[in-house]
Amino acid sequence: MRALCWESADELAVRQVPDPELRNAHDMIVRVRRSVTCGADLPLLAGRVPFLTAGDVLGHEFLGEVVEVGPEVRRHRVADRVVVCAAISCGRCWFCRQGLFACCDNGGTGAAATESAWGQPTAGCYGHPAPLGGFAGSHAEYVRVPYADVGAFPVPEPVSDDRAVFASDAAPTGWMGAELGEVGPGDVVAVWGAGAVGQLTAGAARLRGADRVIVIDRYDDRLRMAERHAGAEPLNYRYVDIPAELRERSGGRGPDVCVEAVGMASEPPGFFTGRLGAERPLALREAVHACRKGGTVVVLGTWTGFVDTFPLGAVMNKGLTLRSARQHGQRWIPMLLDRMARDELRTEHLATHRLPLERGPDGYALFRERTDGCVRAVFCP
Ligand SMILES: NC(=O)c1ccc[n+]([C@@H]2O[C@H](COP(=O)([O-])OP(=O)(O)OC[C@H]3O[C@@H](n4cnc5c(N)ncnc54)[C@H](O)[C@@H]3O)[C@@H](O)[C@H]2O)c1
Ligand SMILES: [Zn+2]
Ligand SMILES: [Zn+2]
Repeated sequence: MRALCWESADELAVRQVPDPELRNAHDMIVRVRRSVTCGADLPLLAGRVPFLTAGDVLGHEFLGEVVEVGPEVRRHRVADRVVVCAAISCGRCWFCRQGLFACCDNGGTGAAATESAWGQPTAGCYGHPAPLGGFAGSHAEYVRVPYADVGAFPVPEPVSDDRAVFASDAAPTGWMGAELGEVGPGDVVAVWGAGAVGQLTAGAARLRGADRVIVIDRYDDRLRMAERHAGAEPLNYRYVDIPAELRERSGGRGPDVCVEAVGMASEPPGFFTGRLGAERPLALREAVHACRKGGTVVVLGTWTGFVDTFPLGAVMNKGLTLRSARQHGQRWIPMLLDRMARDELRTEHLATHRLPLERGPDGYALFRERTDGCVRAVFCP
């Protein structure tokens, strides 16, 4: 089959790779109809994450059609249209039973690396290197889906592919951001990053009844989208003093909940010197600084190693609650698909560029450079 592979830093290629096969009784094979780019791919693309090797297939957010099921798969049949959670989790371990799917003990098969980096193993993820399992990604014609009954969900008839594919990662991540922040009526919520994750966090905060939702970025087209589709107030950090403006819009106190949806791509560039341990959390620092005393800071952005110059003093002295997670999507995907079917949650506008898989390298160039208003490139193999 054809697949979009990482070759070396900033170099991608569409290549012929072996077709996936069922390996375990709980696996199934999905023919990909939509697979999208994600901010989490950018550090991989740039060769900033160890363990990536030439020929690894990228992509972790996807939707497709079931073509083969293992003997233990109960919930899916050939020809079903399914969206698959980016996180690979067993559904049976202690963590999965608590709903902490991204903390699964069994989904990631690179336990040695995650245990040494983070102290414990975590769930797997498609299109990521060995520490997260080394599972082949979804920018391909077919994908093997392990623990299919746990990670794949049937898409209700009225929901389009371009809408449902966001239930794979960006929508549950956004929902989780609002939930970890315990956002409710009366809250002022500020979100750093107007990519798909930031925009869907803003939308989730609105759905949970937040009073004001403010989104911060440097790209006006993304900010306008957050305003139009999530009812958010846009703030461009190139032109305004963000902490001062946020105080002004929150009765002088600062936002109740501050969500960082930027991660290692925090600008301005020069943030990463090639070793884990030099990640500079610019947006996160601003979020901690701006948050009201006793408020909550939620980290949705991806971080892999140690982070320098983290303002722990502000967290401690202001009595902040700091929360974070990789998304536990299996917990929210059915609810999000229902909301999509009822038209309460619309995501298709985020699919700004639709390209054939063969044009994968162009799609990533658009996405990485944020050119032509690109929020997410969607590949249709
Ligand atoms: N927690 C999870 O499970 C999970 C899931 C999906 C994505 N993520 C992470 O969420 C983050 C966002 O993902 P995305 O797909 O929306 O990414 P994206 O790259 O499309 O968007 C990131 C946005 O942040 C903006 N930004 C950069 N520096 C900023 C700053 N200092 N202040 C304000 N905004 C700034 C950029 O201009 C960009 O628009 C990434 O780190 C991604 O890895 C986490
Ligand atoms: Zn993603
Ligand atoms: Zn598990």
